Amino acid sequence: MKLSNEQKRYIEELFELLKIPSISADSKFQKDVNDAANWIKDSLKKIGCDKVEIIKTKGHPIVYAEKIINTKFPTVLVYGHYDVQPPDPINLWDNPPFDPIIKQTKLHPEGAIFCRGACDDKGQMFMHIKALEKMNQKNNLKCNVKFMIEGEEEIGSENLEKFVKENKAKLKSDIILISDTGIISNNQPSITTSLRGLSYMEVSIKGPNKDLHSGLYGGAVPNPINILCEMISRLKDEDNKIIIPGFYDDVIEYDEDARNEINKEPFNLKEFKNSINISDIHGEKDYSTIERKSIRPTLDVNGIWGGYMGEGSKTVIPSEAHAKISMRLVPNQDWKKISKIFKDYFISIAPKSVSVKVKTHHGGYPYLTPSDNPGYKAAYMAYNETFGIKPLRSNSGGSIPIVPMFEKELKTKSILMGFGLDTDDIHSPNEHFGLFNFFKGIETIEKFYKYYSEIVN
Ligand code: BES
Ligand code: MN
Ligand code: MN
Repeated sequence: MKLSNEQKRYIEELFELLKIPSISADSKFQKDVNDAANWIKDSLKKIGCDKVEIIKTKGHPIVYAEKIINTKFPTVLVYGHYDVQPPDPINLWDNPPFDPIIKQTKLHPEGAIFCRGACDDKGQMFMHIKALEKMNQKNNLKCNVKFMIEGEEEIGSENLEKFVKENKAKLKSDIILISDTGIISNNQPSITTSLRGLSYMEVSIKGPNKDLHSGLYGGAVPNPINILCEMISRLKDEDNKIIIPGFYDDVIEYDEDARNEINKEPFNLKEFKNSINISDIHGEKDYSTIERKSIRPTLDVNGIWGGYMGEGSKTVIPSEAHAKISMRLVPNQDWKKISKIFKDYFISIAPKSVSVKVKTHHGGYPYLTPSDNPGYKAAYMAYNETFGIKPLRSNSGGSIPIVPMFEKELKTKSILMGFGLDTDDIHSPNEHFGLFNFFKGIETIEKFYKYYSEIVN
């Protein structure tokens, strides 16, 4: 891909940000998280925002900025995050995770930027800064813009939630615009119309008060790991339905027409399997893969540990076993209610021989975007113009818990105008973001403002 001087500069700037390892989950990177916030503050200043501030919180800072053109114009609030997931396991990266590099891939023949955060969400957030820079230069923006870029999305957005609740007037806007999701493919743009919610639990099983010799005690005492596995296997039946009583009570069931519509989304099962090297798919009976990974709730073990995990073998009955279990939720499930029924059920299926602890980590509500609002229409027209193809509606399986919170607290809808691909390896080794997607994103965001101001004014 031949880049203009301006495009080269955008990439150089983005590389500076990508090099800062702003890992929100790990306190060792506290300084880097702060550096990333300051870097964004500076770049928002440089492009001509009137008011740029760093808001300190109990956790990581929030960057806030405004460009008020005319109080009669509609206001767009841009949300994004500058924090990233830990890069582990580092040995699976082909290049160092915070040393951005451009390489071609099959799906990105124009090249893609490989770095943790390239797609989720530094690269996508930065498109908004560059789009505003361009509109400021051309002096053609007929909207006011507010930026709110946080550093805790990957760890639950707890402090942003507090900030939002306490600053409703400041954050007042007509629409919230977010690029932190994806499109179906570079030949088929799409607008994300739903996000799943999340309930994240941790369970611990305790048996004997110490690890025991498995010959002297084995067979006669509870083994917490065996018992934990048995309990986990009682969370789903043979059809992969979750059997926690009440789990599906509030789930929206789609009628046949709606399901047909959802299943029309271009999807190649063979490519899907090949891309992650599995020989067969696995999931809830009577639902398609598209449905399973978007409009159906899930239950998955994210990690499980206990007993002897060192080299070689050790004959032992462990004293404890642990697992992290998460459930993706769909409209209209309530994560607090789901966390409670999980806990009650999990405790109820434990044998008397062990003690059980269930802890709720964090959670979030699912989200549905209506397609009859001006923001959706503007996004639709923008994608249609820049890709030359009408965007489809697409239900995403991921979660952005702050989005339903915005609606609850600010009474404002969010438009999920993402540009990543599911295969961009976000949260995985070798995360990347296509150059095509980055530049198309900037162009599409500019068009969004144009159409939005036309529709609303
Ligand atoms: N940007 C992602 C969510 C996403 C990605 C939604 C792709 C749709 C398409 C976000 O940064 C994320 O990773 N969210 C977490 C939830 C959070 C509470 C840790 C997730 O979905 O696991
Ligand atoms: Mn994200
Ligand atoms: Mn993420």
